[in-house]
Amino acid sequence: MAKVKSSFFCKNCGYESAKWLGKCPSCQSWNTFTEQVLEKNEPQKAEWRSASGKNTASIPRKLDEIEAKEDPRLVTSDNELNRVLGGGIVAGSLVLIGGEPGIGKSTLMLQIALALNGTKVLYVSGEESDKQIKMRANRLDIHSENCYFLAETGTKEIFNHIKELDPDILIIDSIQTSYSHQVESTPGSLSQVRHCAGEFMKYAKESGTPVFLIGHITKDGAIAGPKVLEHMVDTVLQFEGEMQMAYRILRTTKNRFGSTAELGIYEMRGNGLRQVSNPSEVLISPHGSNSSGIAIGATQEGNRSLLIEVQSLVSPAAYGTPQRSSTGFESRRLNMLLAVLEKRGGFRLGLNDVFLNMAGGIKVEDPAIDLADCIARVSSLEDIPVKEKTAFAAEVGLGGELRPVSRLESRIAEAEKLGFKEIYVSSQAVKSMDKKTHKIKIQSYDKLTDLFSDLFG
Ligand code: TYD
Ligand code: MG
Repeated sequence: MAKVKSSFFCKNCGYESAKWLGKCPSCQSWNTFTEQVLEKNEPQKAEWRSASGKNTASIPRKLDEIEAKEDPRLVTSDNELNRVLGGGIVAGSLVLIGGEPGIGKSTLMLQIALALNGTKVLYVSGEESDKQIKMRANRLDIHSENCYFLAETGTKEIFNHIKELDPDILIIDSIQTSYSHQVESTPGSLSQVRHCAGEFMKYAKESGTPVFLIGHITKDGAIAGPKVLEHMVDTVLQFEGEMQMAYRILRTTKNRFGSTAELGIYEMRGNGLRQVSNPSEVLISPHGSNSSGIAIGATQEGNRSLLIEVQSLVSPAAYGTPQRSSTGFESRRLNMLLAVLEKRGGFRLGLNDVFLNMAGGIKVEDPAIDLADCIARVSSLEDIPVKEKTAFAAEVGLGGELRPVSRLESRIAEAEKLGFKEIYVSSQAVKSMDKKTHKIKIQSYDKLTDLFSDLFG
């Protein structure tokens, strides 16, 4: 007989507990547990005990005998999207697009839907009306005869329409507004989000139709009802950027069908999002040759090399305690490099405010940016500008040594392509490299201090 039971769930990450907890052991957040009624059957005999020994649907097979077919992919006209998905949309895949409200998720998906002319796309929105979507489509100025729009939140109704229409691609805007009658809680609650996403997943897997779920993320960067969704879907894309700036980054944080290091860049314009196919050119501002505190780092995001401008401002602390602040760069790393500069370089930064900024609102995790970061700071402190057309690519170790970075050849090639004249790297990295094959001058160093004395005298 079924027995009604309740359980407690963390609103933030979906962690389940039999009793109420003040602090979630999984995501460490406080006061996030709510009780939810579940219907659970009486405990059954362990499944393996009742196993008959005969199997039905799937049988274990030798890996050797299994043929691996590449999943068929739909290559869209949006190269940035193709790239982050690992080469196009995989049939039957479930993709979650997360981002803060207003960042441009609906715009991106509508634009992709309209550009897929020839493919039947169903765009379901629980957030906007027909009229609003039409106005946005007009603004984007792309015409498609195969894009269908449905303003609906109920999953049952949505699936009824899907049966009739049989779309090639389904877009749900958003998963937090989706609602199933089978679950009693309100739309946006954890159990609704989980249940609806589960239904869309079954649909995607059984029909082979790719499904895109749009999800709002909370302030701290987690998708509301987040971890549950991240486990379920095949791919998680984060759409991020500074709201005031035009650039938007589409970043893969999970991908069952490709690399997670990929990154797509867009520019938000009056008529929608424009793909930025040559990001280095927009990430380096055409600054005057004589401003100090600026250095160009050659970074690598997935398969793509990017030159990024690092801006730093070092000035005597105006209000007692010195401030340290960075945008687009991890603050722990900022502090570590400050300590290295103090201890190994002998620069007295302790009483200065230090600000660091990655141009274009981009977040950089690549350690190869370290060197550009140190150079920018010292350049600002000494008020000596760095030579024009100079790039930097090396990790800085705690001993002040320059360490080699991955894919140096590709970084060098990108700098060369953009007309850079010199690139500073670690000596370790160029041991086996033939420097003569490059037009760009490759300057290699072991120690940060030697480099400083050559650059800044
Ligand atoms: P939207 O796609 O509604 O964001 P989300 O779905 O993530 O909440 O994007 C909203 C913002 O984008 C809005 O502030 C206006 C801006 N925008 C443009 O700048 N140009 C455009 O062509 C469109 C459609 C929107
Ligand atoms: Mg939206």
